[in-house]
Amino acid sequence: MKVDGVHYRTIWLNRDGWGVDILDQTRFPHRFEVVTLRSPGEAARAIRDMQVRGAPLIGATAGYGMALACREDASDAGLDRAEATLAATRPTAYNLAWALRRMREGLRPLSEADRVAAAYRLAGEICDEDVAINEAIGEAGLPLLREIAARKGGAPVRVLTHCNAGWLATVDWGTATAPIYKAHEAGIPLHVWVDETRPRNQGAFLTAWELGRHGVPHSVIVDNAGGHLMQHGEVDIVIVGSDRTTAAGDVCNKIGTYLKALAAHDNGVPFYVALPSPTIDFTIRDGLAEVPIEERSAREVTHIAGRTAQGALVEIQLTPDGSPALNPAFDVTPAHLVSGLITERGLCAASGEAIAALFPERVAA
Ligand code: MRU
Repeated sequence: MKVDGVHYRTIWLNRDGWGVDILDQTRFPHRFEVVTLRSPGEAARAIRDMQVRGAPLIGATAGYGMALACREDASDAGLDRAEATLAATRPTAYNLAWALRRMREGLRPLSEADRVAAAYRLAGEICDEDVAINEAIGEAGLPLLREIAARKGGAPVRVLTHCNAGWLATVDWGTATAPIYKAHEAGIPLHVWVDETRPRNQGAFLTAWELGRHGVPHSVIVDNAGGHLMQHGEVDIVIVGSDRTTAAGDVCNKIGTYLKALAAHDNGVPFYVALPSPTIDFTIRDGLAEVPIEERSAREVTHIAGRTAQGALVEIQLTPDGSPALNPAFDVTPAHLVSGLITERGLCAASGEAIAALFPERVAA
């Protein structure tokens, strides 16, 4: 997407032809900084410390992490080491395991001499495919917004979204935001309710920034406001992303998504999940029992970052000295609360049968 008229992806090859450039998302929205990754260790750190985040972008960064690893040591042992380090960075987003498996399957049959070039080519393919997939998700979701707009006779379609499932979470377009950007391009009036998404505030920091840069009308709301807005008819549709969706349609996403799904269900508001197929984990069915939920540092709850009036970036403590905190980063929304999935192959029900019918080759794999 464009930033001040310049087209950016979230990850790209440095001018030197081998370093990997990323936008440092820990500095948003107050700083726009490009960082160059030059080793698999730096790629792993960027994922773990959330300089890059969002399931699809985590996968893409892991792909390039393996390419950087091949430059250092393209032996089987070298690749095993790098893969283990990258795999251990974040446990929930399935795109990470998917991308590492794809790199492994592409690289292992090759001689060591051929692995570096092949790894860069494969990582580039993962990125290009992500862009195409997300654009297709946008096209698949657009009719949902168009239909609501037609019913509302020119009044804005009010979309609620949680976390950042925008272009910053992917290589480009985003997942939940792709239909929003497509609708905006098509001239459909929109207003997006952006959940702030404590504790890391991906909504307030990232989604609000990218919608603002793109000229999409929006308001940031506190996480607890969504249910109230739904009760008062202020939300036409909820669209969120996913970090891992099971073969039966249970959706794991940023903590707090489940509460929005409950409120949407209670108020008859359609609740859609936009996701690329590499987010679907065909090896599991029961989201609650089987998806590993990342638990992050208590400091993300007890402290908050922001900009002072003088422009300095600072972190301050919110909670009393000594109060412990708990920080589960994701939750699972059971399939029965999901109105539908928006995938690159079109809309489908959140059910095992519908997912299998849309992606038969993945079920067999
Ligand atoms: O912890 P994060 O910021 O990596 O979590 C991101 C999310 O939960 C997104 O909603 C999800 O990855 C979908 S992104 C297209």
